[in-house]
Amino acid sequence: MEKILVLDFGGQYDQLIARRVREQRVFAEIKPYNKISLYEIKNAAYKGIIFTGGPNSVYDDSSPRFDKGILNAGIPVLGICYGHQLLAFLAGAKVSPALDGSEYGKTQVRFYGSPLFDGLPETAACWMSHTDRIEQLPDGLEITASTDKCCCAAFCDRRRRLYGVQFHPEVTHTEYGAQILANFLFGVCGCSGDWRMEDFIESSVEKYRASLSGKRVLLALSGGVDSSAAALLLHRAIGENLVCVFVDHGLLRKNEGDYAERTFKKELGLNLIRVNAGERFLSKLRGVTDPEKKRRIIGAEFIRVFEKEAKKLGKIDVLAQGTIYPDIVESGKGDSAVIKSHHNVGGLPETMAFEEIVEPLRELFKDEVRQVGERLGLPRRLAMRQPFPGPGLAVRIAGEITEERLRMVREADAIFREEIKNADLDAPPDQYFAALTDTKSVGVMGDKRTYGYIIALRAVTTDDFMTAEWTRLPFDLLERAGSRITNEVAGVSRVVYDITGKPPATVEFE
Ligand code: XMP
Repeated sequence: MEKILVLDFGGQYDQLIARRVREQRVFAEIKPYNKISLYEIKNAAYKGIIFTGGPNSVYDDSSPRFDKGILNAGIPVLGICYGHQLLAFLAGAKVSPALDGSEYGKTQVRFYGSPLFDGLPETAACWMSHTDRIEQLPDGLEITASTDKCCCAAFCDRRRRLYGVQFHPEVTHTEYGAQILANFLFGVCGCSGDWRMEDFIESSVEKYRASLSGKRVLLALSGGVDSSAAALLLHRAIGENLVCVFVDHGLLRKNEGDYAERTFKKELGLNLIRVNAGERFLSKLRGVTDPEKKRRIIGAEFIRVFEKEAKKLGKIDVLAQGTIYPDIVESGKGDSAVIKSHHNVGGLPETMAFEEIVEPLRELFKDEVRQVGERLGLPRRLAMRQPFPGPGLAVRIAGEITEERLRMVREADAIFREEIKNADLDAPPDQYFAALTDTKSVGVMGDKRTYGYIIALRAVTTDDFMTAEWTRLPFDLLERAGSRITNEVAGVSRVVYDITGKPPATVEFE
């Protein structure tokens, strides 16, 4: 399988670079610069190498460097930002602080002839983020782009196929970034672009079949796309040796628990244990209204239930998790396995010792995980589903959680989701649900005064859930949902639509 090496020098965009390469149907593998030698690189038959950015200055002796032999290894290299400076530095260039000329953000770049810029206009806006710059190039390297403040915004050594760009072609703010990467992959490295997500699945399955042979693996399956896709992948590799524990904490959406059990156990044949712990969770939550306290109780209880189930299973060697790349970013990047900080797997007690943790999806972005899931047979409804928080409906009920209040929010939520589905919107919201407020209000129904709770409907549009806009849903859809909820859900007297973005609000109510 042809592959590209993304050599990580500590930049923020290493995974994004790998993803952009995969989007061009070429497999990309990321390795920290100090975890692979020149010898290993030569033996691995990479079609090309990308040096990532990084926060250091190449002229500091303590900065990450690489074996100079890479320049003459006969493998094309593309250096980006710090990687651009490092590549030139290894070749003998002078790099200095750009005292007058740091560049951040969109910057107009002028291109000169280079195979990297084939098909590009003479100038384009590119994303810059640097305080150092290349001042002088050695013989053999030519300048191929510049900006007003940066004479060497790109260089190349055509003979040795070395290319550097000061800007970031992997971010969407750079116009023609995808074209530049394609020029490198296909024009310079001669890749054929025939990689498919199926190849990732196949090679992962082979890898885990070998490394987990004879071991028992435990996975906490939530029914969300990440843990589901991880479960299906490992199930294909080790079959019955993967045991999935699905803890139903009683805070799931309408029919969710039964649907998950049916799908994973009956239809997909997973070795699944469903634990119905609703009553246990509800009794612990009785009388609790503080949002953080609710989360803590649910987290701690989850671990207790999960641990109890695991004990019943006897010796388990490996814990598997559906960690995906954005989780790693959120919990701080590092070399070691990062335990997903979400309540359902975070902070497992030390008494639950595992030899190993495997995270088969840790390099993938959400949409890639959806693709993996679907290709492994996950029904589209599950593969494309909106996120659902680990603590479930508990963070959508302001005030106390009771059976009665759970019923209200569950029914209202089911109606709202059904109406959104029926509306078949061109751009459906990225997350949408009903929440139950702790406010009651007066209403009138059939000439009678009512006094019931207020349900809030929320729908947001977002790329990454870090910020979000409230979705401009059609009024007639809102009207239908509102009228059905007040008519069909006993105890609800009023329905409001949340028009707050994030910030200042969060997506969830608590
Ligand atoms: P917030 O409310 O923080 O939500 O704006 C952002 C995204 O995270 C989800 N979320 C959670 N997921 N455990 C989870 O597994 C949690 O405690 C939790 N809180 C929020 C939320 O649904 C949204 O997609």
